[in-house]
Amino acid sequence: MQLNISEFPSDTNIVENLKPKPFRTLHYLGSKLRMLDFIKKVANKEDPDQGAICDLFAGSGAVSQYLSNYRRIVAVDIQKYSEVICTALLKPCSDKKILLYGDYSRKSSIKAIFKEILKPITEYESQAMERGEHGDIEPLCDFLEHCSLYSASEYSATQGMSDLKSALSKTITNIKNFGRPAFLATTYFGGIYFSYKQTMCIDVILYETKRAPIEFQNTLMAALLSTASDIVNTVGKQFAQPIRPRNKNGEPKSRLISQLKKDREICVFKTFENWLRKYLRENSYSAKHEILCADYNEAINSVAEDVSIVYADPPYTRDHYSRFYHGLETICLNDFPKISKINIGGTMRLSRGLYRKNRHQSPFCIKSKAPEAFKNLFKKVARKGKILMLSYSPYNKSKNAHPRVMQIENLFSLAGRYFKYVESYSPGVFSHSKLNNTEKHLEANDNGELILVCRN
Ligand SMILES: C[S@@+](CC[C@H](N)C(=O)[O-])C[C@H]1O[C@@H](n2cnc3c(N)ncnc32)[C@H](O)[C@@H]1O
Repeated sequence: MQLNISEFPSDTNIVENLKPKPFRTLHYLGSKLRMLDFIKKVANKEDPDQGAICDLFAGSGAVSQYLSNYRRIVAVDIQKYSEVICTALLKPCSDKKILLYGDYSRKSSIKAIFKEILKPITEYESQAMERGEHGDIEPLCDFLEHCSLYSASEYSATQGMSDLKSALSKTITNIKNFGRPAFLATTYFGGIYFSYKQTMCIDVILYETKRAPIEFQNTLMAALLSTASDIVNTVGKQFAQPIRPRNKNGEPKSRLISQLKKDREICVFKTFENWLRKYLRENSYSAKHEILCADYNEAINSVAEDVSIVYADPPYTRDHYSRFYHGLETICLNDFPKISKINIGGTMRLSRGLYRKNRHQSPFCIKSKAPEAFKNLFKKVARKGKILMLSYSPYNKSKNAHPRVMQIENLFSLAGRYFKYVESYSPGVFSHSKLNNTEKHLEANDNGELILVCRN
């Protein structure tokens, strides 16, 4: 029998329309924002009693945010930035005074001090940009290639044009003389992912956030992460590939200036204020949601009694999320990490994306480790007597995505070792499926999205 999932009775009613609408918190790979109603329908079909849901790989919090209107949520992810975002969504700040923090930061007395300290490099950057706009593009290309303060401190500003080296050295000295740990965003991301003027504003917000009342701090941080994700100057809004100013022949790219201006002139404080407005809301559901920054194994081991469904949306390709979002992790950890190095032609160099050393390497993204990771997931959820809803993400060849590390047929047979019933749902078609039906689903369904439901 094949039923269309849209044939399930709709639960849209007046109350539904009053629920806060979910919003996109981060530019996030594989966000389930467009699948929320489908996920809710499958959960309601499998567990009409509305038990709690554990969102095991919560990421940008899209699923937790939406389902939190209907059920108690336990949101889990290994990354700190996800914990910050999910906490802001599930335990929202409803005190309007938080909106003042945009203006507090803009008018902060520390801003004038930071501005003076960073003057050598912000002025250099502005001049390089201005010269570029007037056709003298070389200083701007050189700036983009050698402007990292972290790298300049590590290698004593030995690269780039002499005026740039001097601006970097003066800035490093000014920061040292300030004598307090500040300038995290400026040191790690200035010029690379944002303009230096923008990282200065991010650092002012970080400074003010640390001094804000404790009940505001998490939401302020979430709004800052969303701001960073909005304004980061990369293709795809990730932190993996800083702009390359030249093409393969070493010539400056023709659209460089417009590519830079698009993001680097966005006002940080205004964007931050807009995000604060989004995060400010009443808690619409009285249940006590939980948010955990933990490995999935640990989280399942201690999963609460009232959780009826474990919803799992693990990564499926070799792209580690920690590579794309290390910038967000560093901003919220504020821990001044060491940057990883790679071997290029026998010399150890800083990774181009300036990745954190020891960033999380997920077993789900490693071909040799993924089967064991999935086995653990199936085994542990089955032992705990919970229903597992496993999202299977699409492989979009046309977007040059990497293939999935695990194939659907392997997941099906692995799940079958631990669960009596394994069924698949897709937004278009629903059936009790054997594997060959599932394959049909994948073909029939334009985006290839599936949910495997495993239960005993
Ligand atoms: C596909 S994304 C989840 C997207 C999420 N459903 C959304 O809508 O934003 C996968 C997530 O798994 C997390 N992750 C990877 N390995 C993990 C592990 N071992 N334990 C917990 N979380 C992990 C990553 O940090 C990432 O946020």
